[in-house]
Amino acid sequence: MRKLFTGISQLAGHLPQGESFRSGAQMSQMEPLKDAYLLVEEGIILELGSGEAPRADIIVDLGGVEVMPGYVDSHTHAVFAAPRHEEFALRLKGASYEEIAAAGGGILNSAAKMALISEEQLYRQSEAFVRNMMAHGTTCLEIKSGYGLSIESELKILRVARRLQENLPLTIRTTFLGAHAFPKEYKGREDDYVKLVIEEMLPRVLDQGLADHIDVFCDRGFFTVEQTARILEAGARAGLPAKIHGNELGLTGGVQVAAAHGAYSVDHLEHCGPDEIACLQQSEVVPVALPGTSYFLGLPYTPGRELIAAGLPLAIASDFNPGSSPMLSMQAVVALACTQMKLMPEEALWASTANAARALRLEDQLGSLSVGKRADFWTTRSQDAWLSIPYFMGINHAQRVFIGGEEVTS
Ligand code: NIG
Ligand code: FE
Repeated sequence: MRKLFTGISQLAGHLPQGESFRSGAQMSQMEPLKDAYLLVEEGIILELGSGEAPRADIIVDLGGVEVMPGYVDSHTHAVFAAPRHEEFALRLKGASYEEIAAAGGGILNSAAKMALISEEQLYRQSEAFVRNMMAHGTTCLEIKSGYGLSIESELKILRVARRLQENLPLTIRTTFLGAHAFPKEYKGREDDYVKLVIEEMLPRVLDQGLADHIDVFCDRGFFTVEQTARILEAGARAGLPAKIHGNELGLTGGVQVAAAHGAYSVDHLEHCGPDEIACLQQSEVVPVALPGTSYFLGLPYTPGRELIAAGLPLAIASDFNPGSSPMLSMQAVVALACTQMKLMPEEALWASTANAARALRLEDQLGSLSVGKRADFWTTRSQDAWLSIPYFMGINHAQRVFIGGEEVTS
């Protein structure tokens, strides 16, 4: 059955055949199609163009809207037990994120709450968040564990993420992040926790087929480069590619360990100097900036301009979580990337779609509105939408959202 979408005044996020993401200077190029049509079969784009449309079995006249590619949110912690309002208040009074974490708050606070919540309740509230993301134009996302820090709780988070994947139309990928923080009882014997992650958690996660990637929070006060390397090696032996948290709190070697282990991406990079950039240039690792985190924690912003100037395929993601980035709208993330990191709107568009798909190695299937890719898109009445999104921040520009050519909003 061929479905034809017409009534598109302008369509953004199209890439020519042979190109699936954009690096460096190419990121400022974006040629919207005017008076466009989109022909879809079995959820995949068969043809698109301007002007006279081909024949089809079903015609959907969108009524003169603009079409944007669905966002790919390649880094989220969307399955969590509760907000951390009390820590927000402490930070407003001057406490730092690291001070709160060192005092047993932060990720440990989230893990304590995770141990108490029922799986059903966790599912229900996570589903509501993911539906909200979708209503803001996100059509693919990654979800990490890491708020469990015990075998049972880590499995609970990943089971919920897999259930979301089964029940919702979005493309969802899961990541095992048992190495997110050291539980209190491992103080002074941190390597025992690393052993627990590798020898007990990982095999259970694998047995149940719950994860697509492995992640480690490699940073000051969290996992060392050496511990990170051990965990990534165990993941690689089990066939799990790495996506790591690195260089959020300092120049701590996260980029180098990601490159050495062929990670799909290294995310955060609030601290990123010439050595890190040179290392990224010699690798296939996608640098992922999380501007919602810099905003919420008052950290430096990832040097996006430098990463683009170095010819890299910069991506951006929400990092949606209750501690450092309670921001689920990729439109807001795009706005911050422009106003704070000085990305041009075209660059932010690719960073949040095709390059983000590359950070999940899904760029051959989705991330741009091109022949052979999934028909994941949303409609808007905003004019020159990719320019309006960072400009008119705080409104939801998305009206109707389509995944695989099917409407998922009603
Ligand atoms: O990506 N940096 C590590 N992990 C999360 C924050 C976790 C939390 O504070 O709950 C992040 O920012
Ligand atoms: Fe994160």
